[in-house]
Amino acid sequence: MSKIAAVILAAGQGTRMKSSRPKVLHPVGGRPMVLWSVDKARASGAEEVVLVVGEGAEAVKETAGDEVRYVFQEEQLGTGHAALQAREALAGKADTVFVLYGDMPTLRTETLQRLIQRHEERKPAVTMLSVTSEDSMGFGRVVRDEAGNVRAIVEEAVAGPEILAIEELNCGVYCFDAPWLWERLPDVPVTQPKGEYYLTDMIGLAVEDGRTVEAVTIRDVEEVQGINTRVHLARAEGILRERINEEIMLSGVTLIDPATTYIEAGVRVGRDTVIYPNTHLQGETVIGEECVIGPNTIVRDTRVGDRCEITASVLEEAVLEDDVDIGPFGHLRPGAHLGQGVHMGNFGEVKNSYLAPGTKMGHFSYLGDAELGEDVNVGAGTITCNYDGQRKHPTVIEERVFIGSGAMLVAPVRVGKGAKIGAGAVVTRDVPEESLAYGVPARNKGLARGQEAEDDDED
Ligand code: UD1
Ligand code: CA
Repeated sequence: MSKIAAVILAAGQGTRMKSSRPKVLHPVGGRPMVLWSVDKARASGAEEVVLVVGEGAEAVKETAGDEVRYVFQEEQLGTGHAALQAREALAGKADTVFVLYGDMPTLRTETLQRLIQRHEERKPAVTMLSVTSEDSMGFGRVVRDEAGNVRAIVEEAVAGPEILAIEELNCGVYCFDAPWLWERLPDVPVTQPKGEYYLTDMIGLAVEDGRTVEAVTIRDVEEVQGINTRVHLARAEGILRERINEEIMLSGVTLIDPATTYIEAGVRVGRDTVIYPNTHLQGETVIGEECVIGPNTIVRDTRVGDRCEITASVLEEAVLEDDVDIGPFGHLRPGAHLGQGVHMGNFGEVKNSYLAPGTKMGHFSYLGDAELGEDVNVGAGTITCNYDGQRKHPTVIEERVFIGSGAMLVAPVRVGKGAKIGAGAVVTRDVPEESLAYGVPARNKGLARGQEAEDDDED
């Protein structure tokens, strides 16, 4: 087995994005563009991945992390010059080096793998990826001889009419015999008027050396269009979205309207779940089987069990066990954990709280830093007053507690099991089990015997 390394060119300034952030850090399909290239390089067997970075290098490093190596291209002197920057890092360390761009998120991993496979089979100096298209997109033209062998790549800017008519285009993705690449790359001549070194000139050098050039030709232009402007960015977003949605549908999920369903790469959805329009599933989200999600719902970094129903709600960093239903207009914030069968009606908000199975919270409530036992009923408009202006405090509500409408629970506070809180009560002190708390501030009365409760320290 030969050793494979990848070089990802990502030093270009991306001027046409008109952005203060490096082009390759713009997210597409939910993740920074460059990570698509890094992942594809890895998935195609690259043991070493070298990113050629320029402007915004620090930010790129922060995003791509230390799983990849970085080389800095100080001046953008062309693709040949960019690739040359990786020589020191890789010379002698790999038998095969493939080159791709950091701004080509729609390139399929299978395509890259096909390219590498062909290269390994035939062992030419270089195997290049080409595409046939009537629209030249400004790409370099692939020139072949009568026998069909690739002889050169000619850039559009310097091509005459005959060459301009060629419909086979260079995609900018190549697989090289590494020792030959590192030996010959410094010989790429400078091209005027821009004073750039073209990686495409390696094709001519291979021919000069009497080495073969292989080409793998694809037909799907969408894969290799690259991103230079925000228009391209939106197009790539659409392509990736379509692919993800198709894969999800083929795995047994119903999307009522794929065109308005936004699922990021990496999200998993179980069989027989139905997703309604304008639903956004983001980040590390996992959805179980037979759920109904949406319409108008955002789920981010959240784990949802089986048979859950979520309508017009926003869920962030939350956990839902099976059979939970939320909405319309529910909001789960980080740390919300809803046990099996929890019901959360309209305009509820839960943050950093656990609701045990069977608990119900019908309307207009806020629970923050709270822990609720099983089968608690949270009346409409109940609020945990968890913040005193400086610190957050916990609220504990034990099993079977019944909270009347409009109750304020001033944390830290504990409500014992089976207790009842009267409507409008402001609970400032712990409520014993099986007792009733009522009024403002709440007084306490034993439930079972109906007597004044052990609230003896009351004045
Ligand atoms: C290049 C090819 C062209 C091909 C096209 C496909 C050359 C000379 N031409 O053209 O044949 O059809 O890609 O998209 O290679 N980059 C650097 N440093 C540089 C210059 C470029 O890192 O100094 C990076 C860019 O960030 C970009 C990639 O290399 O990701 C391609 O550069 P770009 O200027 O877009 O190449 P093209 O002129 O479009
Ligand atoms: Ca380009």
